[in-house]
Amino acid sequence: MLKELKETTDYIRQRCSLQPKVAITLGSGLASFADQVQRVADFSYSELPHFSPPTVEGHPGQLILGHVGSVPVALLQGRIHYYEGHSMAQVVYPTRLMAELGAQILLLTNASGGIDPQMRPGDFMVIEDHINLTGDNPLRGPNVAEFGPRFPDMTEAYDKELSGILEECFQQQSLRVSRGVYCGVAGPNYETPAEVRYLRQIGGHAVGMSTVAETIAGRHRGLRVCGVACITNLAAGLGQSHLSHDEVKEVAQRVEENFAKALVQAIPQLALTLTP
Ligand code: HPA
Repeated sequence: MLKELKETTDYIRQRCSLQPKVAITLGSGLASFADQVQRVADFSYSELPHFSPPTVEGHPGQLILGHVGSVPVALLQGRIHYYEGHSMAQVVYPTRLMAELGAQILLLTNASGGIDPQMRPGDFMVIEDHINLTGDNPLRGPNVAEFGPRFPDMTEAYDKELSGILEECFQQQSLRVSRGVYCGVAGPNYETPAEVRYLRQIGGHAVGMSTVAETIAGRHRGLRVCGVACITNLAAGLGQSHLSHDEVKEVAQRVEENFAKALVQAIPQLALTLTP
């Protein structure tokens, strides 16, 4: 793993020396935030050694290095999902790469189904905590001591200070935002109504098919992690309609512009919390 990461880093370093402070992963339908980044370099996943290309529609795969304001960032436009058949190690490879490039903060975004009855499509939820229901873990197997400990603590997986900044910035864009627990499932099917009732009973507020593995790998590496979910639909059985990926993309695209503005505002504030 270390050797592979070094090879990918070397490839990037031949073209770009930028050291990101904040690493950002964009969820389904939220890719246009990438237009807000003053690009220094971009790399398609297919050209990067050891990267697995994403296969889902709505997830173009590129790694962008650049600036938001004066903050150097790394941005993943298009995520690699577990349900595509990749191993957890492949899923978190881009996250580990961004840490290798220098990132200290990991900002994760995703599209999710809302479980909390107060939620409406187009709302946002700052992720306070998660429940990993994927049945797998990116840290399974021999521990890479250079990354972190065998048994990493997850008491404060999502950084409170960073989460507070995110919440404020979403409020300032007049977006409806709450805080809650994200349930990460393997997918790719949407849940059954019985599964959604179960998720609510165990304390979930939103459900999606990403994020938990990246948070685990990020915390293992010592990154400070924060995340925001775009509630694209009410989870199965709570709304009137059947669920579709088209609906998920449509709703995310409807709020995409304000979402992008909230991130542009948040990123410099997130970076300010870093000790120089
Ligand atoms: N369930 C799981 N993943 C999702 C959903 C959902 O309802 N909406 C968007 N991603």
